[in-house]
Amino acid sequence: MNKEESLNLSAEKHLPSQELPGPEPRDQVTVGRRSFLRGLGIVGATLLPASAIFMRQAKAQEQNSGRLTKGDADLLRFAAWAEIVESDLWTQYNELGGATKPNDGAPNVGNPAYILALQNLDGDMPQYISDNTDDELSHAAFLNAYLLSKGAEPVNLDRFRTLLGSAATGADPNKFHKRLTNLRRLNVDLSWYTRYRSEDNPDLGASFKGPFNIFNEPGIPLDDVDTPPNMAQPNPPKTTTARRMQAIANTAGFHFAFIEQGGSSLYPTLAVKATSEEVLRILLSIGGVEIDHFSLWHDKAGNAVSGSLAGLTDPKNPGLTFPDLNAVTPAAALELTQTNKIQPEPCDFIRTDLPPCSVIRPTSTRLGGAVATVKSFTDDLLFLGQSNEFFEFSMQLATAADSARRQL
Ligand SMILES: [Fe+2]
Ligand SMILES: [Fe+2]
Repeated sequence: MNKEESLNLSAEKHLPSQELPGPEPRDQVTVGRRSFLRGLGIVGATLLPASAIFMRQAKAQEQNSGRLTKGDADLLRFAAWAEIVESDLWTQYNELGGATKPNDGAPNVGNPAYILALQNLDGDMPQYISDNTDDELSHAAFLNAYLLSKGAEPVNLDRFRTLLGSAATGADPNKFHKRLTNLRRLNVDLSWYTRYRSEDNPDLGASFKGPFNIFNEPGIPLDDVDTPPNMAQPNPPKTTTARRMQAIANTAGFHFAFIEQGGSSLYPTLAVKATSEEVLRILLSIGGVEIDHFSLWHDKAGNAVSGSLAGLTDPKNPGLTFPDLNAVTPAAALELTQTNKIQPEPCDFIRTDLPPCSVIRPTSTRLGGAVATVKSFTDDLLFLGQSNEFFEFSMQLATAADSARRQL
């Protein structure tokens, strides 16, 4: 199935086919604009003031016409893909560990022991999980509604909701085999932890290793045998099952930050390619919330590797220990691990001859763009068990977004 067929297939669920604009009208808008810009290059500098006015008029007409350039639609479609993925994983976390049902609904009972383990990181974790979930659901719904309002195809990933979820108390039993993302076994790349404490920038060639590694660890309780849902969960945990549950909650804490730092880099890479001011506004405004999420989770994850929780080993996964990152020697090494250093360190930016600047990084397409996002989520095992069709469809959307270019 090619991309247009896939997108049309998903769009049919939202809009009668006769209302959908085919690719031809949208492409005509883009091609016409490109032709105009090529013409501008030929007429030369003496006509630039009048041409600039004409360009603004053409741009205003395009924005008011209800159509997006192909590039802008591709940018928003990949953003919608990312938000649907985020919505699925956050919904799973919310069922088990959230304070309320989605969109400020009824109180959520969840998995009591998991909630207690999360609260060993911070008492507000359940509320933060619910609010983060609501944010992602709103992002996904808004982006698809905006695409539809502009006559562009939305994104629908429902046909890929086939993965196994949690069987533990709290998880929705009706969705057991209907998850889009896998949280039952995760590899969580922690290089972001070091990256944001470093004065080096990956966009300028630096590479980083996390302070420790999380391999093959669940982010959610798997079932009630592995982690009884009503056990005590003291800090530090005393029993084997309580230590197992705490290791799962700690993994979730780091996974939250991993996901949201990805969004923090993705949105700037998309925004610089936007043509319409309104699309730019959407990408900057949603992207800012991803950064807000990352900052919050970065702070909370530090509580799993400091104080009385530090040093925990998962009894079912003995290769995984959460070290005390405030007990690192020598002092120079502590600079890259100290848990309360959550504000981004100023780093090289744009060029090494400029002064250090505190920025989101990476923001290059190669390291933080759409294809890079699909790859990093895949390495995380977030899509473990997904079909080839899912990966092909995701990479088609990602490649299209990374190929978009600002047309001004
Ligand atoms: Fe989001
Ligand atoms: Fe997010």
